Amino acid sequence: MFKGVKILGTGSYLPEKVVTNFDLEKIVETSDEWIRTRTGIEERRISRDDEPTSEIAAKAAEEALKVAGVDAKDLDLIIVATICPDQTFPNTACHVQKRIGASPTAMCFSMEAACTGFVYALETATAMLRSGYHKKALIIGAEEMSKLVDWEDRSTCVLFGDGAGAMVLEATDDVNDCALVASSMHANGNYTDILEIPAGGTLQPITPELIESKANCLRMEGQAVFKLAVTSMVRACKKVLKDANLTIDDIKWLVPHQANMRIISAVGKGLGIETEKVFVNVNKYANTSSATVPIALDEIAKSDLVKGGDYVLTVAFGAGLTWGAALIKW
Ligand code: UT7
Repeated sequence: MFKGVKILGTGSYLPEKVVTNFDLEKIVETSDEWIRTRTGIEERRISRDDEPTSEIAAKAAEEALKVAGVDAKDLDLIIVATICPDQTFPNTACHVQKRIGASPTAMCFSMEAACTGFVYALETATAMLRSGYHKKALIIGAEEMSKLVDWEDRSTCVLFGDGAGAMVLEATDDVNDCALVASSMHANGNYTDILEIPAGGTLQPITPELIESKANCLRMEGQAVFKLAVTSMVRACKKVLKDANLTIDDIKWLVPHQANMRIISAVGKGLGIETEKVFVNVNKYANTSSATVPIALDEIAKSDLVKGGDYVLTVAFGAGLTWGAALIKW
């Protein structure tokens, strides 16, 4: 009954429009120098108004399916990790299902775990495939953060970008062969208010006054998030390595959530891994929330920087607070 799980392919998609730090200097009181030195970000991609999350998710998915050699009609599970859904409901995975022409009977749901969404989805899909109830899964991290931020708030709008990354997974008969070697997934709801969109849900239904005060946009206590991010991510990675009976020297790539270069460096330092093994692309795409990890994994796969049997340690952190580390045997 219990199965193994194989990664068959990855894909990613970034919207065409590039917005540099210099472009942002024209919108808010900021500077390329401030953004680069505080975050490592140089530019980000921004989606069109008529380009919803499911569209960029579907483009990433189509690429992953092509690489995997899998027909969308053979998928029986689609999970989309996103905090930028097309609509409150139906869920974004159903929109993706329709766009890619996937089986009209597949199980489709979205997962709202912010920047940790993709590693949560990887853990969830793996468990569902291992159980033997599902055979082929598509998991996606897709976000259009540009549609959630307040473009007059310089402390947040410069940090985020839009993008999507996808992965196709398959159940195999060898129960001992599992791409997800070990994981450590967590949340602490005592910190729901340090990174949030205050209004627009049932807690504070939207009113003209709330829109006027921008309560329907992302708000963050940057420094509090920063400190919790570093300690939690380092702890989760150490737990995963211990559970897998490996050391940091066994890791080919550390793929941390791409929120801020200083956070990435601090996590690398906390784990004692060589700088060259820490994957970085935050300079190109900024923080695309749940999409940073799958986009990075796809870039690694495409550049032939990883081969079968290599260990890739992914780790993410986001609103909730949620955090998690997932050790992948490629
Ligand atoms: O996926 C998880 C999501 N969140 C994160 O990863 C964010 C974690 N936090 C951070 O990355 C950092 O806290 C930030 C990059 C957000 C901010 O860096 P910081 O070093 O903590 O700066 P700060 O918030 O202490 O602000 C320092 C100064 C302030 O001015 P005063 O009060 O010292 O005069 C801010 O008003 O920088 C000012 N500032 C800016 N200046 C120019 C804030 N944003 C900007 C800006 N341009 N864009």
